[in-house]
Amino acid sequence: MNLTGIVPFTLLLLIVGCGARPFYPLPSKILKGHRQPLQTFRPYNIAHRGSNGELPEETAPAYTRAVTEGADFIETDILASKDGVLISFHDVILDETTNIADHKEFSNRKRTYNVQGVNTTGFFVVDFTWTELQTLRTKQRYPFRDQQYNGKFPIITFEEYIAIALDAPRIVGIYPEIKNPVFINQHVKWPNGKRFEDVFVSTLKKYGYKGSYLSKDWLKQPCFIQSFAPTSLVYASNLTDLPKIFLIDDVTVPTQDTNQSFWEITSDEYFDYIKQYVVGIGPWKDNIVPVVNNYLQLPTDLVARAHAHDLQVHPYTYRNENQFLHFQFHQDPYNEYEYWINKIGVDGLFTDFTGSLHQYQEWTSPLSSNDTSLLHKIAEMLKGY
Ligand SMILES: *[C@@H]1O[C@H](CO)[C@@H](O)[C@H](O)[C@H]1NC(C)=O
Ligand SMILES: *[C@@H]1O[C@H](CO)[C@@H](O)[C@H](O)[C@H]1NC(C)=O
Ligand SMILES: *[C@@H]1O[C@H](CO)[C@@H](O)[C@H](O)[C@H]1NC(C)=O
Ligand SMILES: *[C@@H]1O[C@H](CO)[C@@H](O)[C@H](O)[C@H]1NC(C)=O
Repeated sequence: MNLTGIVPFTLLLLIVGCGARPFYPLPSKILKGHRQPLQTFRPYNIAHRGSNGELPEETAPAYTRAVTEGADFIETDILASKDGVLISFHDVILDETTNIADHKEFSNRKRTYNVQGVNTTGFFVVDFTWTELQTLRTKQRYPFRDQQYNGKFPIITFEEYIAIALDAPRIVGIYPEIKNPVFINQHVKWPNGKRFEDVFVSTLKKYGYKGSYLSKDWLKQPCFIQSFAPTSLVYASNLTDLPKIFLIDDVTVPTQDTNQSFWEITSDEYFDYIKQYVVGIGPWKDNIVPVVNNYLQLPTDLVARAHAHDLQVHPYTYRNENQFLHFQFHQDPYNEYEYWINKIGVDGLFTDFTGSLHQYQEWTSPLSSNDTSLLHKIAEMLKGY
């Protein structure tokens, strides 16, 4: 019997069944015994916006599903409401992934703002209080994905997202992004002149996240802080020694804070600078291996150069659907994982389908092989006798 199919469904019913806030309870104190540790011997399975290939992105069910499916890290984007509450939500506007259009009481809130040099029109997260945001429900972003959960799940806070990781039955890391920090700091003000980055880091500290990469504290509550804005990462490195990942956008997009080009921020000189603050980079995968007419071209030297600077590489985003799979992979996501893990040698993968990546890794490099490596060694030694 396939238990993994049943557990998340039960969870969904539980969550749908209770309407009152808090929507997801803050971390309980009961599950603090020994839990299966984070695996660190194979590339990290990073559940991009939760299991958003199956469920609306960045919702509690998408994250609990990712935990069930074997994520090492659940990934999220942090934005802020008008009144400064940090939320797990990807877009600065609500239009694409919520039912804001059905809420006529908010129809006069549409605005146009300059977001990183682009005039963007829509219902902006920063124009709604947290109380107002709680009345909305999320929906699936892509029309070709399952629509049956549209209108069911609310937006969650950063704290509720953290609670899901802390309450997981094994150690599951978090991977929050300081999202659009320039825009958020322009539109949202906190008491005592605090910046978005200050509130972001103090939330992590409140729940016990601390320690450098692979330290004892870190392994108990693993966390990577990610951002496309290098000044936010540099600033945050003064506040916490948690490991940071510098995200790298498309070749045409300059950095939102320092207005630097893709070529500048991927140079050896820049890697020498940024490695004082970050443990790795998170590039878009098509910038590592360019694509023409949906065919992969020769890989660039980006991964080799990052590794030469002791930087990990966690590319984004791996997706199962045909329209995202380049032709050399014969429409098979396992072929894509095989290529990126064994040929390119990445250290982590942002995937919309954590279950598929987990099954591929269990098939090719199972967790049990690592647990029993000592037994194998003993068996080898005994063979001679
Ligand atoms: C098992 O995991 C440890 C620690 O993560 C690693 O150093 C070791 O190489 C792994 N062994 C195998 C057989 O993969
Ligand atoms: C954005 O809008 C402003 C104000 O309406 C206008 O001056 C500017 O040219 C616009 N910028 C772009 C890139 O369209
Ligand atoms: C980090 O803190 C030091 C000491 O308080 C300060 O001099 C420096 O300007 C800070 N750096 C950043 C990037 O905020
Ligand atoms: C960013 O850099 C580009 C190219 O160097 C320049 O044309 C543009 O004016 C700059 N934008 C800002 C806002 O400084």
